[in-house]
Amino acid sequence: MTKKLYIKTYGCQMNEYDSEKMADVLRACDGMEQTNKPEEADVILFNTCSIREKAEEKVFSDLGRVRPLKLSKPGLLIGVGGCVASLEGEAIAKRAPYVDVVFGPQTLHRLPQLLQACRDTGLAQVDISFPEIEKFDHLPASQTASGMAFVSIMEGCSKYCTYCVVPYTRGEEVSRPLADVLRDVRELLGQGVKEITLLGQNVNAYCGATGDGDTADFAFLLQAVAAFDEVERLRYTTSHPKEMTQRLIDVYATTPKLVSHLHLPVQSGSDRILAAMKRGYTTLEYKSIVRRLRAMRPDICITSDFIVGFPGETERDFGATMQLIDDVGFEACFSYVYSPRPGTPAAELPDDTPAEVKSARLARLQTHIDELEQRANQAMLGTVQHVLVEDVSKKNAQELAGRTGNNRVVNFCGTPDMIGRFAEVKITRVVRHTLRGELISKTS
Ligand code: SAH
Ligand code: SF4
Ligand code: F3S
Repeated sequence: MTKKLYIKTYGCQMNEYDSEKMADVLRACDGMEQTNKPEEADVILFNTCSIREKAEEKVFSDLGRVRPLKLSKPGLLIGVGGCVASLEGEAIAKRAPYVDVVFGPQTLHRLPQLLQACRDTGLAQVDISFPEIEKFDHLPASQTASGMAFVSIMEGCSKYCTYCVVPYTRGEEVSRPLADVLRDVRELLGQGVKEITLLGQNVNAYCGATGDGDTADFAFLLQAVAAFDEVERLRYTTSHPKEMTQRLIDVYATTPKLVSHLHLPVQSGSDRILAAMKRGYTTLEYKSIVRRLRAMRPDICITSDFIVGFPGETERDFGATMQLIDDVGFEACFSYVYSPRPGTPAAELPDDTPAEVKSARLARLQTHIDELEQRANQAMLGTVQHVLVEDVSKKNAQELAGRTGNNRVVNFCGTPDMIGRFAEVKITRVVRHTLRGELISKTS
């Protein structure tokens, strides 16, 4: 009988991507099929996130919930991967002794062997090493039935922002060789993919070997991917302001396939806090990037991430953040209250801002961004958008959900055969964060 695999994913798109790879590798080696019911599964995997304390705690409560399944199904194996696994390693198997396998983001390709070793020995297996970029050489070719696909171009992060665990969970920045990335792109295009998202923690730090002893930077890679005729639309995430080079900004002028949306996390609008975070830029530099981008792409939509209540953040610092939001005119943002992460430098800083003050600041920031987002959505009313149809609508199975170039979801009436294709859709209504539209034409 076909064995079943259940995966629960926490955290960012890197984890979403890795979860797909886990499913790919277990399908290829063990013929496992995915299920969305944990009680049906022979293997349960948690792909974890440790970016904030809440995310990390959630894993242990979810683990406790699947534990009883082991009693009714003795062969069931439970694995923990991702960033919590990478940080805690053996400690996970100690705290939750019913966990069979602990693996990191860089060792997920070894899952079949780790699971087998556990079946053979009855002992928990832990492998959270950082074997460079070898995982990509051991993963089966990507397969997708949808019109869009992610391609990982680099792993890890070497920025060491003082609040962040990522460099410790994922290791230092490592870029995949240019030819490998382009091979992945080609394979996906052969399966009918039309939109590619280049993925990494800091994609614009990309520096991939070209095979002739030289390296390609991110600007070069974007142009190389855009050069494939079958690529209709190109995105990337996430990028860092420090490496937003003029070469990269210039690509916006020459490469219309590159979407008019950029997610460029700023974190704070106070130079004092940015320095304490070790972000490596000032607000003036950030605004200069945005100005130069808009010179190349007047309609570019900028979204961002914010951390509120970093240790030592005063009302004045927070005011500077609110000011920056107005100066830049962000159209959407993710924002969080600072969460101290053990082992990071910021966790040692004195922090006397009460939690209520921090959450009140977060609420003010979110209300303001929400207004800006509504305003930007209203401005899209009546426009005709080039939309990639992703799926049937979550709320209404009679409708389709598509994504605009500037990353908005639009719901509209259409037929399922349009999924995976582009369509021209007129925006007719704005309902909070979603847009409603009317099909103007299907694009071949
Ligand atoms: N590499 C990207 C983002 C990585 S993590 C960048 O540098 O921009 C995604 C977001 O989580 C960050 O942008 C930040 O806003 C938030 N984040 C990271 N560490 C955090 C912490 N300790 N507390 C609260 N938010 C955090
Ligand atoms: Fe974390 Fe900073 Fe790296 Fe982003 S750039 S992943 S916030 S250390
Ligand atoms: Fe979380 Fe790891 Fe991503 S900590 S945000 S899953 S890189």
